Amino acid sequence: MIRKPLLTLLAAAGLALAALPGAAAEGGHIEDIDFSFEGPFGSFDQHQLQRGLQVYQEVCSACHGIRQVYFRNLGDPGGPQMSEEQVRAFTALYEVEDKETGDTRPATLSDHFPPNTGAGAPDLSLMAKSRAGFHGPAGTGINQLINGIGGPEYIHAILTGYTGEEKEEAGATFYENHAFPSGWIKMPPPLMDDAVTYIDGHPADVDHMAEDVAAFLMWTAEPKMMARKEAGMTAVIFLGAFAVLLYLTNKKIWARVKRKH
Ligand code: HEC
Repeated sequence: MIRKPLLTLLAAAGLALAALPGAAAEGGHIEDIDFSFEGPFGSFDQHQLQRGLQVYQEVCSACHGIRQVYFRNLGDPGGPQMSEEQVRAFTALYEVEDKETGDTRPATLSDHFPPNTGAGAPDLSLMAKSRAGFHGPAGTGINQLINGIGGPEYIHAILTGYTGEEKEEAGATFYENHAFPSGWIKMPPPLMDDAVTYIDGHPADVDHMAEDVAAFLMWTAEPKMMARKEAGMTAVIFLGAFAVLLYLTNKKIWARVKRKH
């Protein structure tokens, strides 16, 4: 009679999981967003990545680098997937420091985006994977099982979390921000409505731009996500078929023995 308590326990655990408070209720105001790349079948939205790149280039790159990204990556399948011409035209907008001569020269496809340390702003290449948006409940992080780690949600929340308050402290200006752990961030609100003009006519309010650039930064942090998911699916299908084969083989091997009884 061990079964009943076990079942009850499982049911209770299931209920507890289902009743977990939404992520938004935990520290800061971090909203869950249904990004196209979430879930086992999710994939990056090429157009969203291109819009996010535009926001990065026209706004964020003034202070932040993405130095892990090569220009040629912009044409990779599963990413922004720009045409070779577009990638070349984009790369031509940049100059980089030549590692050998130390001189500044036009960027080529095999260069990284230039670093940017001037404003004391962190590099954003891996930011979407180095920050967690969801911590709850009570700091256990169990919500992450359901909603993911929440890196892109965190970036979106930072960009949309300004209250408009600012203060001077030790000669620096701090801006009040709901999503930033200390509540006060040194980054001035970078986005305002229509800061960029999207060629695809997508709305360019702060919320949409923040979502697009967050998706783009998820791609810079994990450019091979699509390949990883495909490999995972292949493995699952293979293991499924293998399990069936094992089951049938097992039946066949034992059939003679069992028939004797
Ligand atoms: C005027 C310069 C400036 C611009 C423009 C700017 N940032 Fe920042 N950003 C900063 C600085 C400075 C910090 C460090 C803030 C701190 O630690 O208090 C920062 C920090 C961040 C952080 C890290 C927060 C953390 O958890 O440490 C993220 C994410 C970020 N910026 C994203 C962006 C995005 C996306 C854009 C473009 C939409 C952008 N920033 C535009 C200056 C800038």
